[in-house]
This record gives sequence, structure tokens and C-alpha cells, in this order.
Amino acid sequence: MKKYLCVVCGYIYDPAVGDIDSGIKPGTAFEEIPEDWECPVCGVGKDDFVVYEEEVSLKDTLKKHSNSDDNEAHDELAYNEIVKDVFAVGSQHWDRQLFDELIPLPDGTSYNAYLVQTDGINILIDSVEPEKADDLLDHLLDLDIEKIDYIISNHAEQDHSGAIPMVLDLYPEAKIITNPKCKTFLQDLLEIDENVFITVNDGETFKVGDKTFEFIYTPWVHWPETMSTYLVEDKILFSCDFFGSHRATSKLFVYDEYKVLEDAKRYYAEIMMPFRSHIKRNIEKVEKKNIKFIAPSHGPVYDKPSLIIDAYKDWISPNVSNKIVIPYVSMHESTALLVDYLVKSFTAYGLHVIPFNLPKTDVGELSMELVDAATIIFGSSMVLGGAHPQAVYAAYLTNALRPKAKYISVVGSYGWGGKMVDQLKGLMVNVKAEFLDPVLVKGVPKDSDLETIDNFVEKIVELHRNL
Ligand code: FEO
Repeated sequence: MKKYLCVVCGYIYDPAVGDIDSGIKPGTAFEEIPEDWECPVCGVGKDDFVVYEEEVSLKDTLKKHSNSDDNEAHDELAYNEIVKDVFAVGSQHWDRQLFDELIPLPDGTSYNAYLVQTDGINILIDSVEPEKADDLLDHLLDLDIEKIDYIISNHAEQDHSGAIPMVLDLYPEAKIITNPKCKTFLQDLLEIDENVFITVNDGETFKVGDKTFEFIYTPWVHWPETMSTYLVEDKILFSCDFFGSHRATSKLFVYDEYKVLEDAKRYYAEIMMPFRSHIKRNIEKVEKKNIKFIAPSHGPVYDKPSLIIDAYKDWISPNVSNKIVIPYVSMHESTALLVDYLVKSFTAYGLHVIPFNLPKTDVGELSMELVDAATIIFGSSMVLGGAHPQAVYAAYLTNALRPKAKYISVVGSYGWGGKMVDQLKGLMVNVKAEFLDPVLVKGVPKDSDLETIDNFVEKIVELHRNL
């Protein structure tokens, strides 16, 4: 019986082993597997499998069956080659579940590193999360890289710098090119020797062989030291976190724009949203370059840079969507009843309203909706004299992310009193939104509360009509 290879991720179905987790017993021929079976690694169907010819290298088989028809300009390039002599050598973290121990990652994430070759000189751009260092080193060895001459470090955060010490162990002759601030951070975080560094200034170029690297300081996307590197001859912007998406993918280039924008919005919401004014300046700065590709440090490479640049321009603009977001927590259903009434009322007026029951909420989803919501209403039960800790957490997170909402308020239920409204309001001093009069009900919402609640709804409906 023949083995079959998944051309998307490289998984090999071996009939002698089967796929026990999917109920496929050892000894099952590939042809006998049910048609709805999916690759246990990447989830594609049987159509994406080909006969695995053991005498042909895995790399050649994948290359032959890669979707190069998606971009005919890449037909002659290796599966991980952006343009001639520029390779993606990073790592896909398919099953990472949380980023920064905060934002869930439904599509995993990736740590992209790139290798540029010119005149026998090898330049590595960024590295990977230390636990994925083996992937990076394997990719370098797979390309028969015997020496690394330079490592360009765009950003010191460990998901891009953490494997640099391992690269230096394997290639001790390498010099790190970075800016002075990033050098300090790298020394603080990784204890890298002073003599390894070459520092560069904003706008400085570094020519090696037939390639010219231009360094563009892009502070606060993500840290104050972050820069981008522009490869002049190939018109590639290596933007590091800027324009990234939380996405593990076997595809080098964006092929599903809607999905990538969703993953990029999740990334933007947590990492970038607080820095909108910096992002605006940085977009203006990089847009002066003639960019053919954006190669970020998370997610696929953009071969249509306008896709992500236009999305960023929309997200950072002052424009809001006609949308109301209601993060809430309810201990004994009173606040839930109030929120339910609000949702039905806003819906009846034709407004887009999204409730988030906080104990069951993916805070990544909540953060994504905060990117452009016009109004945020926090709902909470009163507990121990104040807001429920889940509402406190949501308010604190909102304050940290600094969304561009125009209106904000609080609703909830109490038994005998407390300072919930002042507490939540005090947690959101960074949100430059008008605070609307809150609505608090004693116990469950009653008919006697309806006038107050309806007035609250009508006020917001009126404000949304005038957005
Ligand atoms: Fe992907 Fe700021 O690190």
C-alpha cells in the first residue's frame, strides 16, 4: 500500500500506521479512508494528498505540488522563496493558544525570519521564539547555509530575537545590525556581547553584494526601538510586528484575504491599537518607499501591500462603525436581563449590537470589536461594593487598548449599593469617549425601570443617527 503526502503541510499518511485519532485503523489503504477525512496536521481534505514517492525528496515533492499557480511569478522559485535569493526561514506555531498570556490564538501564530543571499554573503533578518529555534536552524541547514555574516534585528521582543543566541552559537562569526536602542534592549534581554553589534541610524543604508538594506525607524509598532528594513532592489519591506497577523500557515503569500485581515485585526487590536498616532506617522514614512512585498514577522507575506496598508488606515482613522459593544457579567441574571433588553431594543432600531458575556468571552474577539465600535456599554452586577472583577478586567483592558469609541457607559444591577460606576469610570481615563449617564436597577429590571432604560436606548440611538 502506498503512502500519501499532504502537499499543504508535508504530513505523510502511512497505511501501516493509519490515523488512530481519526478512527483510521493501521492497515487502511489511503483509497479506503472516508472522503470526509481531514489531514490530522493542517485539516485539508484528501484532494490535497498525492502519492508519496520515497525516492523523490520531500522538498521536491512539496515544491512540485505547491500552489505556485496562485502566483505565476513564483513558478521558478523554491516554496519558501519570496524573490530570488530571499527566503522565509521562520517557524509556524500551529498550536499556540495564547499570546502575551492574554489573547487567544484560534489560528496559531508564526515567527517569521528571512534569509537574504548575495555574493556568498548571508544576511538573516530577525529570528524566532526561542522554543522554535530548531525550526529556524533546520531551515538554514536545509539551505546549506554554512555561515551567517549579518543578523538584522528589527525588534528586541523575544518572539523575534529570542533565538539569536542559538544562531550565534551555530554561526559565531555573525554580526548583529540594529539601532542603538534595540541594541540596549537585546543586551538587557539576551546578554549579547557588546562586540557583536553594528548600530545603524534612521534612514541609513547598508550595501552588501548587490543588495541594499535601508533601515527605517518605526517606533511603537511595537516597542520604542522597533524598526523596519527595506530591501531596495527587491522592494521588500520587512516590517516586523507592523502589519503582522496571528496566523500559522503553510502558504508563503496571502491567499485568503478575508481570513488574513481577520487575523491581522486580532493582532492589531492587542498589539497596535494603543499606538494609533504612531502608526499613522509610520505608515506615512514607509509609504514613501516603492513597496512590492510586505514581509512581516507574523503571518503570511503580502504581495499586494495595499491590502494591509488600507486596512490599517481604516483601523486608525477617527471613523467608527455604527456598532454597540456590550461586555457584561451577570451573577444572578438581573444584569443579563437588562443587557438582553438593550440588545433587543437596539436591534429593533436597526443598530448593530454585540453582547459579550465576559466569563465566556474570547477577549481577542472583544478586542477586535473595540477597534471600531462607536459605543461601549459595560454591564455588571454589583459585588462586594463595586463592579464584578470580570467587568473590572474588561474596563482595564479597554483602557489599555484605548479604542476610538465615541460613547461609553455602564449598566447593571445592585442589591443595596456600591461604587461600581465610579470605579469603572475611573479605570478608563485613557478612553477619550463621552461618558453617558449610566443605568442601574435594584434587583431585577422591573416595569418601573422601563422608562429610564428606554430613555437610555433612545439617547444612544439618536447619537448613532448622527455619527
Ligand atoms: Fe511579535 Fe513585539 O513582537
